[in-house]
Amino acid sequence: MANDIQYFELNTGAKIPSVGLGTWLLEPGVVGDVIIVAVKAGYRHIDCAQLYANEEEIGMALKKLFSDGIVKREDLWITSKLWCSDHAPEDVPEALNRTLQNLQLDYLDLYLIHWPVSMKKGSVGFNPENLTIPDIQSTWREMEAIYDSGKAHAIGVSNFSSKKLGDLLEAARVPPAVNQVECHPGWQQSKLRAFCNAKGVHLSGYSPLGSPGTTSPKTDFLKHPVITMVAETLGKTPAQVALRWGIQMGHSVIPKSTNENRIKENFDIYEWSIPDDLVAKFAEIEQERLFTGIAFVHETYGAYRTVEELWDGGI
Ligand code: A2P
Repeated sequence: MANDIQYFELNTGAKIPSVGLGTWLLEPGVVGDVIIVAVKAGYRHIDCAQLYANEEEIGMALKKLFSDGIVKREDLWITSKLWCSDHAPEDVPEALNRTLQNLQLDYLDLYLIHWPVSMKKGSVGFNPENLTIPDIQSTWREMEAIYDSGKAHAIGVSNFSSKKLGDLLEAARVPPAVNQVECHPGWQQSKLRAFCNAKGVHLSGYSPLGSPGTTSPKTDFLKHPVITMVAETLGKTPAQVALRWGIQMGHSVIPKSTNENRIKENFDIYEWSIPDDLVAKFAEIEQERLFTGIAFVHETYGAYRTVEELWDGGI
């Protein structure tokens, strides 16, 4: 299968499956069935986070998949993320243990610092008064201890600018394996991608479909003439074109869907490819960051007064 890009190799040597199932906004009562459908459809990578408040039901679904013999633990790639209110060094191992307990797992394949943003311990929601000044290096030392313990086979970050990633790389004993960020044809991250490539950090793309359920229809790039033209030319759907573009650019993608047909459609992106002349057309798509992180920014509280500061100007 010459055109297959089933995995990407991380700086740990581990292979992350190129398509994962996103679980943000998949609510308890729904998420368990979605996981089972997705794994039966061939997904081997599930992207979770403590923030999503659904890890307990995901854990039950995983347990069922293992006990029914559908898949083995070692054949799955499970990512989770440390939330901002657990950045204090003493809280990091506790947070991981809670996630492992909820997911009913002994280890994660990948554990990420969810945002370069800290909040008071125990805080819920996005009240700016809960923002505190992050000390990423102290948090990272605990992430490294988790890596040493084997409870996470790889560690990384999410929503880090090139500047923040570069600072961390300089201080890290164990370099981050992944930076998971918003990435799709409407926000292609060319500079960050080049930086990650140069540093051996794998870029993983969240909201690879532009999160059409949560964002404005005017930013829905699935309807962009370039995407629809490529889709029509290749006989694929706009979502498949967006996802295939992602893995051809070298990043893993984590689309989510609650619909069985779309779950299958989003995984059916192998054994065909977008030719170079059509990939070049993606440069015509207007660029706009959809998830600005505005909730993490405040002129009085916290570390970043503006979104430009949060992204170090990369907006
Ligand atoms: P649904 O759950 O009804 O399928 P992202 O992964 O970028 O965050 O986007 C998720 C959103 O995209 C969800 O609202 C989901 O709705 C929708 N979606 C998922 N797969 C497809 C698809 N193949 N075509 C169109 N919309 C999709």
